[in-house]
Amino acid sequence: MGKASLGAVIMPQFLINCGNTTTPTNNFNTISNKRLNELENLVIEGLIPSDKDDLLVANGLNYYPIIKWGDKISDTDTFGFNNDFTCFIPFDDNNPKDGLLWVNHEYVNPLFVSDFDFKKYENPSKHRTIQQVDKEMYNVGGSIVRIKEEKGIWKIVENDPHNRRITAKTPIKLNWDIPIAGATTVIGTHSNCSGGITPWKTFITCEENYDSCFGETEYDENNVTTHRPSWLGWEEFYNYPPEHYGWVVEVNPQDGTAQKHIALGRFAHECCTIYELEDKRIVAYTGDDKNNEHLYKFVSSEPSSLKEGTLYVADTVHGKWLALDWKNQPILKNKFKDQTEVLIRAREAAKLLGATELNRPEDIEIDPITGNIFVSLTNNKSKNDFHGSILKIEETNGEFDSLSFKASTYKAGGDENGFSCPDNLAFDLSGNLWITSDISGSSMNKEDTPYMAFKNNSLFVIPRYGKDAGKVIRVASAPKDAELTGPWFSPDGKTLFLSVQHPGEQTKDLNFPTSTWPFDADNLPKPAVVAITGDLIEKMNMLNKIETEI
Ligand code: FEO
Ligand code: CA
Ligand code: CA
Ligand code: CA
Repeated sequence: MGKASLGAVIMPQFLINCGNTTTPTNNFNTISNKRLNELENLVIEGLIPSDKDDLLVANGLNYYPIIKWGDKISDTDTFGFNNDFTCFIPFDDNNPKDGLLWVNHEYVNPLFVSDFDFKKYENPSKHRTIQQVDKEMYNVGGSIVRIKEEKGIWKIVENDPHNRRITAKTPIKLNWDIPIAGATTVIGTHSNCSGGITPWKTFITCEENYDSCFGETEYDENNVTTHRPSWLGWEEFYNYPPEHYGWVVEVNPQDGTAQKHIALGRFAHECCTIYELEDKRIVAYTGDDKNNEHLYKFVSSEPSSLKEGTLYVADTVHGKWLALDWKNQPILKNKFKDQTEVLIRAREAAKLLGATELNRPEDIEIDPITGNIFVSLTNNKSKNDFHGSILKIEETNGEFDSLSFKASTYKAGGDENGFSCPDNLAFDLSGNLWITSDISGSSMNKEDTPYMAFKNNSLFVIPRYGKDAGKVIRVASAPKDAELTGPWFSPDGKTLFLSVQHPGEQTKDLNFPTSTWPFDADNLPKPAVVAITGDLIEKMNMLNKIETEI
């Protein structure tokens, strides 16, 4: 029932038409010998590590910015800060060069956004103004922008009626029958890190480090709660419960309406990667990016639902998916009053069930050829894992709703493979794996850390075919202090949309920024989304060529 149909060409259009290949297929069996030869002989000249303040790309690639922080998207709205996940949905599958780009705005650097310097104060959250907090709340969430490719260049369609912002003040419904902390509609989304796409062509945006905005509710052994304050101190002005954040959020591209999917649990969601079973039930993988937290999978019991179903957490030692099911798990019944509480306190529930602690699960992708699931484990310094790894999950019999699986390390970070701290993943149409890295700004290029040799964060590719198959090759290098995030291919596979997040993050004085990328006249660094194109992508990403050949 839940098996991927590996024996037939079944790549669901919802994924391929949006440039994402997150679904198994054996389309690739149709590769002609000529094309295979081309790939076999493809030489990719990788970049060496660099600490240059620029976005460098390998030979055969070039880039241009599409949109930057502060750019107008309409008469009333501007593009937010620290862009992360990107995702593109064309209006018409037959015209994939015109559609809607979704971009996450994960967090703000107050020094740039609200002119507030946290380092000046011992207790900064007590020194904020509501105007500063309002600016910050506006600059997180996400953007919907219509983009169009003309003469090979993607451009924003300014003032298109679809262009809009979702912010930390946008009202958002909860997709749940029971109110959460007294509400069925909550205010805003923030901490939006990575995301995904649904089969019904809506955007998914995931709330990750939500405790940075309104803090967190903590429980002692007697279930007595205390409020742990946030570092941004928004709760000094807006009394929004922490329980309203830490969810998977779905956004309708057409009108910007959004909903939070409670059934997928509450934790620091990095991403949500969806597979649609043949009977239209949904499987959604999502990781909790925090030291010693977990990997989860939701399996719906109804078609096309992100509400009815069961949330599981991974025991990677025994290869088991453990159900966070209050009704059928006595250990959860003892601790929590109902399923809603289990979902709100999913981390605690997962630990009670014996879930395996992982080294910060970040992005998740499904190999379009084998159906195996790949999970970035970025690092866990508390366990002396400095460079992270990529975990491979093989569901039993290739069934995505299976309750058992095999886990193994696909690729370890470190000197041998030339990358450290893997974060975002993307498969292209040919099944090459693209990886971005996230060495933290405080460690990057620092002599006394294990990260010195890796220099600036980068984009890597692991080719599937040819002489370099399986090697990790650096193909782009980020500006100073930045992280490359949100890789997403256009439907024809010829453009890689990529976010450049937090260039100049280590800046202490705006007069002396540590980065000036993208080299605007004001000399201030700005997060931006770029389009990467070029011969190398076109040669590697060949499904489109195959289609025209058949
Ligand atoms: Fe926002 Fe886990 O990266
Ligand atoms: Ca990330
Ligand atoms: Ca991804
Ligand atoms: Ca990260």
